[in-house]
Amino acid sequence: MKWQGVLHKYFDYLPLEDRDNIVSLTEGNTPLIRAKNVEDVLEDDLEVYLKFEGANPTGSFKDRGMTVAVSKAVENGDRAVICASTGNTSASAAAFAAKSGLEAIVLIPEGKIAFGKLSQAMMHGANVIQVEGNFDEALELVLELSDNYPVTLVNSLNPNRIEGQKTASFEVSDFLGDAPDYHMLPVGNAGNITAYWKGYKEYYDSGVTSKLPKMTGFQAAGAAPIVDGARVENPETVATAIRIGNPASWEKAENARDESGGLIDKASDEELIEAYKVLAGKEGVFCEPASAASVAGLLKLDGTGYFEDGSTVTCTLTGHGLKDPDIAIESSEQPETVGANVDEVLGVAGL
Ligand code: F0G
Repeated sequence: MKWQGVLHKYFDYLPLEDRDNIVSLTEGNTPLIRAKNVEDVLEDDLEVYLKFEGANPTGSFKDRGMTVAVSKAVENGDRAVICASTGNTSASAAAFAAKSGLEAIVLIPEGKIAFGKLSQAMMHGANVIQVEGNFDEALELVLELSDNYPVTLVNSLNPNRIEGQKTASFEVSDFLGDAPDYHMLPVGNAGNITAYWKGYKEYYDSGVTSKLPKMTGFQAAGAAPIVDGARVENPETVATAIRIGNPASWEKAENARDESGGLIDKASDEELIEAYKVLAGKEGVFCEPASAASVAGLLKLDGTGYFEDGSTVTCTLTGHGLKDPDIAIESSEQPETVGANVDEVLGVAGL
């Protein structure tokens, strides 16, 4: 059957009542890419796959949850949706709201979201409000607003978001023929690790898969409340998508970690950028800095005894590298400028 998005594909696992209410951009069905060049640099003997969520219509995994949250809002007769965002949620909410005719209000931390994401929210016609504060403060504001005014919250505290996002774990299992042994992903507000774990458990409980992966999350070192065991008042990291000090799904992420026998650890900005460059330079996969946390974690845990040899490891790359061209250009070698003649080009081309 032609791919029609995650709600059509996994309707029986999702909470929508009526297929007529589906608002879809044909999200999901993203590539699972074998990462042989990463495997080759590892000490451990692992089969590594990259679940490239940057291939979703708005360039991040948020579309999986947003199709369900916005379809449900339509089903309920809602008129407007609201979210706080480090960028990707706002881009996705704005796009799905545009498609459905709902109004979108998005609160973002001023000056701290990547330009690509800001441009998306603006182009899709959302009411973009910049807050003089961080994500955690913006989230508190939208919680208060959605409690007191006729506007539906579409952050991952809305359970429909988690329902939609769990479809990524279904796709991984469908593609591999079983669940992987380890699933690695970045952790920010902690909705995604919660969603994957829910999805893996549902497939296991329905007998579709025979095992459950160890859920392995990575936070940015400057924004690692779960790892450090305390709220971070002023989170700071180059990976603005996960610049979060008080994750909404904190306990659920700890449950996923503990029930699965996995772990949640942190990677420094240098380690994130290193993994980001390895992915782009050796695998041909351009993700955003926060997304590289999954692979930074893989590189960090390699050779420590955490992975059993012969295991399958899936790393989610949550968003596309084009979201944040500024960081890409800053962390790369700068191009040479030459005159428009063969001699000068030859002088630097290294032929
Ligand atoms: N990676 C990217 C690219 C993200 O945008 C986010 C979260 C995460 C990882 C972390 O996922 O929050 O489910 O643990 N972005 C949110 C946003 C906070 O507003 O776009 P999480």
